[in-house]
Amino acid sequence: MPSPSPPPAPPVLPISEHEDEIVAAVDANPVVVVIGETGSGKSTQLSQILHRRGYTRRGAIAVTQPRRVAAVSVSRRVAQELGVPLGDEVGYAIRFEDRTSERTCIKYLTDGVLLRESLSNPELKQYSVIILDEAHERSLNTDILLGLMKRLITERASDLKVLITSATLDGLKVSKFFSGCPVLNIPGTLFPVEKFYSTERPTNYIESSLRTAIDIHAKEPPGDVLIFMTGKDDIDKMVSKLEERIQNLEEGSCMDALVLPLHGSLPPELQVRVFAPAPPNCRRFIVATNVAETSLTVDRVVFVIDCGYVKQRQYNPSSGMYSLDVVQISRVQADQRAGRAGRTRPGKCYRLYPMSVYEKEFLEATVPEIQRSSLAGSVLYLKSLNLPDINILKFDFLDPPSRESLEDALRQLYLIDAIDENGQITEVGRIMAELPLEPSLSRTLIEANELGCLSQALSVAAILSAEITLRSTRSKDVGGKRKKQELPDGSGWGDHIQLLQIFESWDQSGYDPKWCSDHDLQVRGMKLSKDVRNQLCQIIQKIAKGPTDVHARKSRKNDPDYRKLRRALCVGYGNQLAERMLHHNGYHTVGYRAQLVQVHPSSVLEGDEYGKFPMYVVYHELISTTRPYMRNICAVDQAWVEPILKKLQKLDVNQISGGSSEPKDSEPQDKHVNVPKKAVDVQQ
Ligand code: CDP
Repeated sequence: MPSPSPPPAPPVLPISEHEDEIVAAVDANPVVVVIGETGSGKSTQLSQILHRRGYTRRGAIAVTQPRRVAAVSVSRRVAQELGVPLGDEVGYAIRFEDRTSERTCIKYLTDGVLLRESLSNPELKQYSVIILDEAHERSLNTDILLGLMKRLITERASDLKVLITSATLDGLKVSKFFSGCPVLNIPGTLFPVEKFYSTERPTNYIESSLRTAIDIHAKEPPGDVLIFMTGKDDIDKMVSKLEERIQNLEEGSCMDALVLPLHGSLPPELQVRVFAPAPPNCRRFIVATNVAETSLTVDRVVFVIDCGYVKQRQYNPSSGMYSLDVVQISRVQADQRAGRAGRTRPGKCYRLYPMSVYEKEFLEATVPEIQRSSLAGSVLYLKSLNLPDINILKFDFLDPPSRESLEDALRQLYLIDAIDENGQITEVGRIMAELPLEPSLSRTLIEANELGCLSQALSVAAILSAEITLRSTRSKDVGGKRKKQELPDGSGWGDHIQLLQIFESWDQSGYDPKWCSDHDLQVRGMKLSKDVRNQLCQIIQKIAKGPTDVHARKSRKNDPDYRKLRRALCVGYGNQLAERMLHHNGYHTVGYRAQLVQVHPSSVLEGDEYGKFPMYVVYHELISTTRPYMRNICAVDQAWVEPILKKLQKLDVNQISGGSSEPKDSEPQDKHVNVPKKAVDVQQ
């Protein structure tokens, strides 16, 4: 086994200076809230302090992170500080990747993984301490864990300690939620940060950030620059343009420069580059998403450029539609971003918006994810816990989601048989909850097992979960570049079938990386889909009743039209069904509220010889960009749709919410859903 690199000198971070105070509070209380500036050592030091003080004698310490990238990077850092190989005493677990062992006593894990662990072990007995880190991010899973911890500490009063840590969270609100638990405020060591505002919003924030970055490089003393962008595409653009402009600067006019991207989908070996010091006489430009706001602390930053925007996924429960919008950040986020400039010495923050926008237009804090997400998966999870006296509409949330979105989740779960007409979880629902997949895919796998096409469904679920980007069929090859080989085309049945064909072709190539590059597919993503598939196989073999056929591949010979798989998809996506208009290729969704939607231009689905698309399709998701689109769609037969339509007609939202949700006067009396009896061409 390779020996770990020598531990760096132990950092003297604000948290470490308050060790005794923290331990005294934890000794005396079941729940403690710790508020401290980003970079004060909450993520890396608290677990080590409690380990040193004997808390790992009775169980391990779990530290949850809302982001996968943080779980991996912080555990790596802590293993390094303790001088142990990662995966031994210190490890991490994220969905589809577990780097822990029997010896692991400090475990970093995503909040979603901890929720999943609590399904098989509701009391989480393996842990003596649970630290909910980064609680200010208010991720959906952390919010649910907050509610669960409230229950758990009464059950395990004598042997469980819960810490909730945050950079910006309203400590008093959390303390009140936990019956007045103590709040420790760890004073930070932030240096002053001078803020500069633009006189108006730039029309192009990438261009404006570029100009500011070059200005800093030309005029300001040494010090790294952190530039906040909204997502990977912006970052890629910014990195290449910035490199180009720096190269065009007059030689010798500025110090050297290194431009580094930082975002969640960056391979780990590239992520770690931002933590390494810059070479001498070199200024680093780190171009990051909001992951650098609080999750990952990049040291030595002196200048911050804040475009004032963030990319946010937003779910609308009344249309079932997701939109990925670039929205204004909140004041809390703006302050966090500015704070990144003052960690090592006084810094400067360039806000590319006027002060009046900051003061009057920005929200005080970011809307918690629980209030802007589809809750079907979370509600199924809560139902499967079998907690006594639990009514989903009354679960103790720090900030409750809207009733509309809880009811939307219940409707969805009913349509895919996860709950019955009285809102009780079904046998199918229990199996679904054990699969680390969104409800539609877990339901598809169960149905596929019944129909004898599990192997195919596993490949589809794996490749969808790995979020592979397909480029060949969607973007034309640029002249001069080697022409890539065409991907399979879904044989006229749509994107899920194409994904299956891709996986099967890759399988036939013997998982050859060259096959991926020949088809313009990322090797890393394809490898991940293979790992995901293997793990799903293991899980489903453990939980499924009856035989499971996970190995047979290339089963098309027996089912040339993929009827079994498409039927399983129809059941799994029973709540994501659309019917074509009579006279054109527009669709409307079938369900609680009909919504006009279109096939996403990236789809491989094609019309018949008259150009007509299939009458019914299921879709993986609805997204609203320039207009409402269905993404990843599959043609299904009318006969398979009939039972779903019948279920829709019977659906009584009062009954599935446990009979306790009397509609308020102001709300729509949506006792029965509106199911079109036959296709209506609304656009005529
Ligand atoms: O959690 P909090 O924001 O309070 O701080 P932290 O993440 O524990 O970071 C404390 C120190 O460890 C900072 O100086 C980070 O730069 C450093 N760190 C690191 O070098 N590598 C990581 N993967 C995580 C933290």
